[in-house]
Amino acid sequence: MTLQLGDVVPDFTAETTKGAISFHDWIEGSWAVLFSHPKNFTPVCTTELGDVARLKPEFDRRSVKVIGLSVDELAAHGDWENDIEETQGQRVNFPLIADSDRKVASLYGMIHPNASDTMTVRSVFVIGPDKKLKLSLTYPASTGRNFDEILRTIDSLQLTAKHSVATPSNWQQGGDVIIVPSLSNEAAREKFPAGWKELKPYLRVVPQPKG
Ligand code: BEZ
Repeated sequence: MTLQLGDVVPDFTAETTKGAISFHDWIEGSWAVLFSHPKNFTPVCTTELGDVARLKPEFDRRSVKVIGLSVDELAAHGDWENDIEETQGQRVNFPLIADSDRKVASLYGMIHPNASDTMTVRSVFVIGPDKKLKLSLTYPASTGRNFDEILRTIDSLQLTAKHSVATPSNWQQGGDVIIVPSLSNEAAREKFPAGWKELKPYLRVVPQPKG
């Protein structure tokens, strides 16, 4: 069964570079990002892990835990992390799951057999504090991800979880947002007493709510 938005993500236990974890316990009421890598000692993955390590303070600022996964042995992860530090100038500072039996990869549908029988695709799962899947992305092995975009989606997810708004195309933190269509004008007047710009009855634009 494909994991769908709103589903509680599957729990699992695994060995990681920061010790054994039980995934639901590890999430522990935080936001979390689980992302997979096709294989250790591959070039694109090496650059991605360096970038996520560099962006770790940005994930921390948003109270988001990050965890990577690669279908290799724990011992190999250590050697690869040394290469990442050497080539990317950044030590990996978050746990990396050793999924050599592909248990987690199978549970999360990270193996797409028509792409590869053995390597995972580049999956990203953004998980809420309620352990439900909020967003997922799938990239092929040959295309590295944009982790600034993943931070942008987290900003949107965290904002829209708190306020009755949605974020428009290419929205960035601080930009105008849209009142959700399910909110009547009467209810919107209570939440947005300063009013809104109505481009169409279904397209009501307001400044990004604070807090
Ligand atoms: C990479 O991470 O560089 C990669 C992995 C598998 C296929 C192509 C590229």
